[in-house]
Amino acid sequence: MKEESNHHTIQMLIQAAMEARKKAYAPYSHYLVGAALLTADGQVVTGCNIENAAYTPTNCAERTAFFKAVSEGVREFRAIAVAGSPEGDTLTQYAWPCGVCRQVMAEFGNPDEFRVIVAGPAGAYRVATLREMLPESFGPKNLG
Ligand code: THU
Repeated sequence: MKEESNHHTIQMLIQAAMEARKKAYAPYSHYLVGAALLTADGQVVTGCNIENAAYTPTNCAERTAFFKAVSEGVREFRAIAVAGSPEGDTLTQYAWPCGVCRQVMAEFGNPDEFRVIVAGPAGAYRVATLREMLPESFGPKNLG
């Protein structure tokens, strides 16, 4: 039963990430990314990458979703789905989150509970914990 509901939640999040990907503003890289962040209370907050002519102000889809949620007062999260690939309607690769986004996730997610779901080609996906993605990290515990 739990497996079934997990599968359903994952599919729903990937679908939301694919929808968010359509909003990506990526005129320079032409690499479109969408993210869907599941909050502890069951809301889904989406994000897309937002590029900039000056390049470095570019924000990844994952951080857009996190910053939207946190700026609305939400700080507890269960999972994020990421869907990224070069321009085109379908995914041709897995877009594992960049190091900066992993660090942002580590600020708000429990390393062994928060799940990162990366959508791949033809409906495939992979799941990892935050600890697997960012082992031995510097985080809130170092300062608290
Ligand atoms: N990007 C993301 O949005 N998320 C990732 O996990 C990897 C990279 C964006 C940033 C930039 O707009 C484009 O993809 C190419 O790096």
